[in-house]
Amino acid sequence: MKMTDDLESVLISQRRIARRTRELGEEITAFYGEGEIAAIAIINGALLFTADLIRRIAIPVRLDCIRVASYHSGIRPAGEPELVYSVDLEIENKRVLLIDDILDTGRTLFTITRMFERHNPRSLHTCVLLNKKGRREIPFEPDFVGFDIPDKFVVGYGLDFAGRYRNLPCIGSLKPELQNPPGWS
Ligand code: IMP
Ligand code: MG
Repeated sequence: MKMTDDLESVLISQRRIARRTRELGEEITAFYGEGEIAAIAIINGALLFTADLIRRIAIPVRLDCIRVASYHSGIRPAGEPELVYSVDLEIENKRVLLIDDILDTGRTLFTITRMFERHNPRSLHTCVLLNKKGRREIPFEPDFVGFDIPDKFVVGYGLDFAGRYRNLPCIGSLKPELQNPPGWS
């Protein structure tokens, strides 16, 4: 059984992802000019994108990863993201580029950027591969965007549904009958 059989359609091909990632790398390189940056990937989703993107950035990059969990229990407001894992995170006085797979409601990046700002980075910018503009619940404008996409649930190239499809090389929308329960958590 092929993973692509579970897709309703391919939204962005492997080739287009590669081309846009190369362009983004050039944009980011031009933006920062000289000197080093700290790229911080929000894993697991941004893992594949980050791996490809940083190889297209021509200035020195120090890589780190953070993990975020959203809880839907009564303890916190529903969907409030919490940083659950970080390795050797050094932000103070660094030029930080935060990388995520997709910007949806805006909660994750809003919360994480506010958290990071408290650690006094020299600068803080955000890069997302995908942007679902129509879904924002908290206003948030990313600095670098790969693709604006419609409000569809997508998988592949790092994005998952219930932990699956991350290794799909393209980005596609999942057949609605496979989104059970509808939506995701
Ligand atoms: P936000 O906090 O609502 O902006 O959501 C960002 C996170 O939700 C992303 O990092 C993804 O993990 C997840 N997400 C949002 N939309 C999708 C989707 O269409 N497919 C897979 N994951 C998604
Ligand atoms: Mg994610």
